[in-house]
Amino acid sequence: MSSKEEDSSEILTTRRGLLKGLFTFLGALGLGSILYGLYGFLARGEGVYSSVEISLSKIQLGSAHLFQFGGSPAILIHEEEEVYEAFSLVCTHLGCTVVWNPEKKEFHCPCHDGIFDVNGKVLSGPPPSPLEQWKVKMDGEKVLVG
Ligand code: FES
Repeated sequence: MSSKEEDSSEILTTRRGLLKGLFTFLGALGLGSILYGLYGFLARGEGVYSSVEISLSKIQLGSAHLFQFGGSPAILIHEEEEVYEAFSLVCTHLGCTVVWNPEKKEFHCPCHDGIFDVNGKVLSGPPPSPLEQWKVKMDGEKVLVG
């Protein structure tokens, strides 16, 4: 074999090795991304809807209680006797966190001035849909959300 042929063969082997290594690396990266995404999905509790228990002692008449539900900010409002309502505080426009205003009995989104009423319905601004609302059930001295 001539020196030129040996060089060419060596380059080919090196390229093959490089490509093989590159594909192995990309494959590992892809698998890692999938596993990381799956971990994030499960860690946030999305897709696994469970209920949250809130003690009645934490929420007097006319007050609200902030909590996390499925990894997102949420609120339980107690505006009427025996009536509890739970909402996601994630704005339906671009996902900012809305703020409950107990005096006005409205939710306000500070990002683009979206306003929702006490039932989560859009009053004004760009949000395309109401705030997500979850079922609430009384269970003795607790309120179950979800
Ligand atoms: S993100 Fe709430 S109004 Fe735009």
